[in-house]
Amino acid sequence: CGIVGYIGTQAATEILLSGLEKLEYRGYDSAGIATIWEGEVNCVRAKGKLYNLRSKLEQVETPSQIGIGHTRWATHGKPEVYNAHPHMDGAMRIAVVVNGIIENYSELREELKHKGYQFLSETDVEVIPHLIAEFFKHPPSVSPFCPSLLLEAVRDTVHKLRGAFAIALISADYPDELIVVRQQAPMVIGFGQGEFFCASDTPAIISHTRAVLPLDNKELARLTPLGVEVYNFAGERLRKQPRLLNLNPMMVEKQGFKHFMLKEIYEQPGVVRACLDAYFNADWNVGDSTNSPVKLGLPEEIYANLEQIQIVACGTSWHAALVGKYLIEQLAGIPTQVHYASEYRYAPSPLTPNTLTIGVTQSGETADTLAALAMEKERRQDKEPKYQARLLGITNRPESTLGHMVSQIINTLAGIEIGVAATKTFIAQLMAFYALALDLAYLRNSISSIKLQEIIDGLRQIPGEIEATLEKQEDSIGQLAHEFAETQDFIFLGRGINFPIALEGALKLKEISYIHAEGYPAGEMKHGPIALLDAKVPVVAIAMPGSVYEKVISNAQEAKARDSRLIGVTPLSQGEAAEIFNDFIPVSKVDELLSPILTVIPLQLLAYHIAALRGLDVDQPRNLAKSVTVE
Ligand code: G6P
Repeated sequence: CGIVGYIGTQAATEILLSGLEKLEYRGYDSAGIATIWEGEVNCVRAKGKLYNLRSKLEQVETPSQIGIGHTRWATHGKPEVYNAHPHMDGAMRIAVVVNGIIENYSELREELKHKGYQFLSETDVEVIPHLIAEFFKHPPSVSPFCPSLLLEAVRDTVHKLRGAFAIALISADYPDELIVVRQQAPMVIGFGQGEFFCASDTPAIISHTRAVLPLDNKELARLTPLGVEVYNFAGERLRKQPRLLNLNPMMVEKQGFKHFMLKEIYEQPGVVRACLDAYFNADWNVGDSTNSPVKLGLPEEIYANLEQIQIVACGTSWHAALVGKYLIEQLAGIPTQVHYASEYRYAPSPLTPNTLTIGVTQSGETADTLAALAMEKERRQDKEPKYQARLLGITNRPESTLGHMVSQIINTLAGIEIGVAATKTFIAQLMAFYALALDLAYLRNSISSIKLQEIIDGLRQIPGEIEATLEKQEDSIGQLAHEFAETQDFIFLGRGINFPIALEGALKLKEISYIHAEGYPAGEMKHGPIALLDAKVPVVAIAMPGSVYEKVISNAQEAKARDSRLIGVTPLSQGEAAEIFNDFIPVSKVDELLSPILTVIPLQLLAYHIAALRGLDVDQPRNLAKSVTVE
């Protein structure tokens, strides 16, 4: 979901709509805005994409200078107009938008129903305007220094709510106030000249101001045309200064590409270069035994006596973590486990000593990943020193909730990613794992300096190799995609370090083309999925020279023998490939260890072109959201 709010001297509606457009990637099954005009709240909501809201608003637009907007990704209640935000109280004086979940909403709803409040939606959020109305029905006597009764009402209400949420709210009775709340879901305030903004994510306001103040947990703020006041939930005023965001508004434009996803695929060589520059020491050479070739700047406490690493993540970040495990175990020799954050929360591994826990999340906001890390921190809190939590975050958004939660971060430097299907942030996460694994390998002396140098030299070639793949293969992959526009099932095979890439290739295809796809370790295909194969089920095999090359080729042949159309991602020559595969997508020959950074590129392009050919909404696929801030 996405929230945007405005108070100032310009007409709010257009600012809110264009802000929501920038956030639509975060949720897009319905949307709405509320403004205040002539003493009334004017609330307009529409099902589906934002243009539906925009056309509805054309008939009822007001010059109001205050408002809130929301784009929704349904949790409680279907994506229907009556469930879309903003939600209002019975007297239609208060309008509220919320991201996140109110966990105790059903009790609150029952209590309010008993008191005679009527509910018009199935959402958890609707309790909030009613709770505020209830406050005003019996207002307590407040101190003469109380800055605002509306603020007080919201403060009183948030104490009754459980869950992770961010709120923005306006009231027709307080037409010069916009109240925002943060409780474990992101909310930033933007400072303009005589105008102020709020948003759940910075792209919504970046074209108006780069001076932002991210709220911390359990904080609320009152925005008026005169300024911003920040309070904690206890009601104490906090002194806070905005900071300047280093984000170019151009980054949130398509810049001539048909879709953000394609633009972001093309940004990948630059992302790899940025990580190489930031995290690898250009002056390092084999003879240098006093400095690491890697400069992650992590403190000694992270590495000291390390015995185990565990990684928690979701979705594409989980795939990056699997590549990370391979690298850490094979290069640095440290046992590493990878967990789905949503599973780990409720079934954590027994406590092990000297264990580093890594959370990987491009957004830094995924609720399950954050909760898994919080749980790890908590359960290790009172233990003896060797069991104390060591937490490391790998994220593209160091300013995110994750950034506040863990003391050490590897910033993956990918720039903002708008396409819901992760591409460049995945590549950047891989780079973070190369840096981490090589740093550990250097410190533990687990590989020779010569091997280390070889791998780093290889990494330095990768941006050029990605560029070559993009330049040479995009058209042919576009052509190949025509063959599969009607396909219903796909299998992706990979082995060793490329098994996670098979998973990622399948996930990309599922996410944006809605074709059923499965990624499998090539050797496992014969234990089940082979039963699915026939001429209608193409198989993509990632076959890169190295320890498992011949094995993958023979596994692929087993598929071909079942009439599957076999597509190879391989550095073989045309002639050699033609003997094995029906179609092939050439990639450069690189060290097997580095190959995932390259083999994922054609799979991203294949998924992109199939989805684009099917006329689908590549950047905002149905039912998905860029950052999932609910459990
Ligand atoms: C959502 C996105 C995926 C992403 C996953 C984890 O499902 O659609 O692209 O991989 O969340 O997100 P994170 O921000 O934690 O990496």
